[in-house]
Amino acid sequence: MIKKLRKAVLPVAGLGTRFLPATKAIAKEMLPVVDKPLIQYAVEEARAAGIELFCMVTGRGKTALVEHFDVAYELEHTLRERNRTEALAALAASHTEPGSITTVRQQVPLGLGHAIWCARAFIGDDPFAILLPDDLILSNKPCLTQLAEAYGETGGNIVAVTEVPREQTNRYGILKVGRDDGRLVEVKGLVEKPAPEDAPSNLSIIGRYILMAEVIEYLALMQRGAGGEVQLTDGMAKLIGKQPFHGVRYEGRRFDCGDKLGFLEAQVAFALQRPDLADAMRGFLKNYV
Ligand code: UTP
Repeated sequence: MIKKLRKAVLPVAGLGTRFLPATKAIAKEMLPVVDKPLIQYAVEEARAAGIELFCMVTGRGKTALVEHFDVAYELEHTLRERNRTEALAALAASHTEPGSITTVRQQVPLGLGHAIWCARAFIGDDPFAILLPDDLILSNKPCLTQLAEAYGETGGNIVAVTEVPREQTNRYGILKVGRDDGRLVEVKGLVEKPAPEDAPSNLSIIGRYILMAEVIEYLALMQRGAGGEVQLTDGMAKLIGKQPFHGVRYEGRRFDCGDKLGFLEAQVAFALQRPDLADAMRGFLKNYV
């Protein structure tokens, strides 16, 4: 029987060094694309896929991430008094069910695998999603919904995958591919950041996963991988052969918002989707290029 997917882990304890000095005192996941912080895009995408419970893995200086999902009583009271209905509506999407967000602390950023292991008590024996909020995806159907549909078909572990230029395989987790129907790919192996000449394919994992709780047992071994970090990819690789493991070529465009250029491109792409901004944005862009 395929267990229902209700939980998501949001690792937000990274240092965000590529975005200094912006990320000195605030988390990278609080940076807005147009008018919404990255973390809110992730929570909304997860909710659309049926997620009810969230665990943020946080670190130093990340309190704003938690506060963002609180009721801002004074602000909302003032807006109500001033009849600012539009502004109130803009806040509504940041409200969450009481008790639906928990946090755990990753005191030292030892890697993504370590961050997920920090959420072990929240995960328990249940399947869970992971969303890396700095990977932002513009799509017709939310990316995690596409993964959840595949999970409903195959059960087991699912990762979102996309083709990357061969010379960039050393930046990503890369798949060794088995059967491939163009959308669903059987995962035969996984390698974190292989050199282009060693990469088993150019199909890379992006920041959306559905994993089985057993991955925690392997992460608990605390084996250091690429970059001296505890890599999630290495833990996931241990599940291959023991449980179903598939990649989904998702429909949509992904922006790496942890990177300056990716973040700037996301601003343009998301603004051009907004009826209230698209025409003005197009006008600007013509002036600059
Ligand atoms: P990144 O590879 O983007 O690292 O992490 P980073 O530290 O956030 O940013 P840079 O590279 O220094 O600029 C991918 C995801 O994993 C989380 C990050 O918060 C991000 O969501 N992460 C990474 C942790 O939570 N803990 C870690 O130890 C490492």
